[in-house]
Amino acid sequence: MNGSSLWFPPQGSTYAADQDALYYFVYYCSIVLFVLVVGAILYFAIKYRRRGAATRTDGRDHNLAIEITWTVIPTIVVMIIFVWGFRDFLERFVVPHDAMEIKVTGQRWFWTFDYPEGANSVNELVVPSGRPIKLLMSSKDVLHSFFIPDMRMKMDVLPNRYTVTWFEPVGTGEGNIFCTEYCGKGHSEMIGRYRVVSEKEYADWMEKSTSGEGMSLEEFGAKLYVSKACKTCHSVDGSKNTGPSFQGIFGTPVLLKNGQTVNIDENYLRQSILDPQSQVVAGYEPVMPTFQGVLKDRQLDALIAYIKSLQNK
Ligand code: CUA
Repeated sequence: MNGSSLWFPPQGSTYAADQDALYYFVYYCSIVLFVLVVGAILYFAIKYRRRGAATRTDGRDHNLAIEITWTVIPTIVVMIIFVWGFRDFLERFVVPHDAMEIKVTGQRWFWTFDYPEGANSVNELVVPSGRPIKLLMSSKDVLHSFFIPDMRMKMDVLPNRYTVTWFEPVGTGEGNIFCTEYCGKGHSEMIGRYRVVSEKEYADWMEKSTSGEGMSLEEFGAKLYVSKACKTCHSVDGSKNTGPSFQGIFGTPVLLKNGQTVNIDENYLRQSILDPQSQVVAGYEPVMPTFQGVLKDRQLDALIAYIKSLQNK
């Protein structure tokens, strides 16, 4: 990442340079106009200052050439700014089709990121360099606003609806993520970090996150139960849902649709996750998708450990 200046942080995204250029165009136009207008005021103030008794000048009050000049030139400048700005606006708001989608959740006072590979992270957004990243954002409580200055990207994050934005990081590097909508007493501490890494580093990081490193199997399983959406169909409080509840099932016999009764052990759970249709429990529809190839071994172990842990809860 480069392009940092006195005025701006580094240009971290593909559209940063163009946005900065537009900013500078408006900025330098303003300086030129300021000098012209203030210069003219000073010039006339001095040239036509009161000297002795007031005398009227020659009563001239109209000059077509000057009128046309100061109408046409500013109009052209404004049109340039409009077209340029509108083009950048479209670029900023139309998400490329091949973008990788990350779910961003704001809540008092931290950010959560959910990745397509199933991992999630808190207050740390990790993205591979050179790929467009789509951010699908919502809030769990009040208004927040997601701002990465280096990417020149800022978007409100609202409860009860999604907002979408995107950026394509260039190079690698890291920097701050700020909340720019006052959201309560922790607002100023709602600071995250982003890291743009190589594809290889991203894959390694993803591998580490999805293997639940540093977590016990039970803890990791409890996390997967939510992130892999087991929760949608299987309760942990004994209530019947689309699928049977996980509560207290381990070690108990279960009647299957095909009339067999089997004991729920580790292998039964493993097979139910990888090949759900092979042993549908009586009274339920065979609607569960297979998780073959979706879950890694340690994830399977973790889910099974989690289900085992639900014996007396
Ligand atoms: Cu969240 Cu300010």
